[in-house]
Amino acid sequence: MPIYSEKVMDHFMDPRNVGEIENPDGVGEVGNPVCGDMMTFYIKVDDDHLSDVKFKTFGCGAAIAVSSIVSEMAKGKTLEEARKITPALVAEELQGLPKNKYHCSNLGAQALNKAIDNYLEKQGKEVESKRRRKDGEE
Ligand code: FES
Repeated sequence: MPIYSEKVMDHFMDPRNVGEIENPDGVGEVGNPVCGDMMTFYIKVDDDHLSDVKFKTFGCGAAIAVSSIVSEMAKGKTLEEARKITPALVAEELQGLPKNKYHCSNLGAQALNKAIDNYLEKQGKEVESKRRRKDGEE
């Protein structure tokens, strides 16, 4: 059986939304300290919706496929809907990932969330995840 699904291979060979957005409304960068891979997401927000999402990934094939599918899943969604893109959903959308590649799917959701946090911070809004940490909930 092949290690990767057809969908992973498709998004790896032909990744969607690669690149940078000029004057983005938010940027989120994450790195995996174990493998050293890096992922950066750029977002444009219009009327609380993600009107554009792009990424740059320096990483393994799974990380590239994850970035590509996350960008597709997030585009057009409200910020709140985009927050609900979890690594499990990403893996499901990619028709599964090998177990030893699950950590790669974490990066996509994390980078997107960071870009949303960055946008909210720029707007002077409190970022929910940081508020919870401050309150000692995390
Ligand atoms: S091996 Fe590093 S993100 Fe996939």
